[in-house]
Amino acid sequence: MTITDYGLQSCVDKTGRPCENLETLEETLKRGPFHSDTNKSLPRGKEMHKILLKVNGVPYPVDVTPYDTLARVLKEKLGFTEVKTACEKGECGSCTVLVDGKAIVSCLMLAAKADGSDITTSRGLAKDGKLHILQEKFIEHDAIQCGYCTPGMLMSAKALLDTNPHPTEEEIRRAISGNMCRCTGYQQIVEAIAAAAGDTPPSP
Ligand code: FES
Ligand code: FES
Repeated sequence: MTITDYGLQSCVDKTGRPCENLETLEETLKRGPFHSDTNKSLPRGKEMHKILLKVNGVPYPVDVTPYDTLARVLKEKLGFTEVKTACEKGECGSCTVLVDGKAIVSCLMLAAKADGSDITTSRGLAKDGKLHILQEKFIEHDAIQCGYCTPGMLMSAKALLDTNPHPTEEEIRRAISGNMCRCTGYQQIVEAIAAAAGDTPPSP
């Protein structure tokens, strides 16, 4: 099985040239993730290493250096431009994505460490052309102004509702405490998340 079996046309670098020594998905899966045992298996040095990231349900083999962050690989190498970067120090939360279901600031995670992981960005929230309930409520409640914080805010909210479908206001505020918003004053964001939770049926 090769990447073309997954609908990816080819592997090209930033200049559009085809990647050399393309590893097939089969080979990547057989090799297994770098982080499966201990940190000792993380790649070192300056060489490029092939990793496999499953982003929004689609597998992407990608070449990374040992010091490439997950945020930069998602945004600059794979084109997930909804992953916003601002501080790149883990302080603003704009780069938040889900890694194996957990909200992670992707500027602080090495891409090699995410090898083999399931990653969800805000682009992956909408399904079959229908916005996720959180996206709908953010729009309804005017929880978006410039929008720069929104993708990260949505992913923190998604992680919250996945584990706690009916959070209190305090729990919502705590869940998004790592996400900075310079525009809204947070109130509309909290209301949007609460409204999304209100539209989720109570657990049986
Ligand atoms: S860019 Fe990652 S936390 Fe600010
Ligand atoms: S909407 Fe502008 S930073 Fe949040």
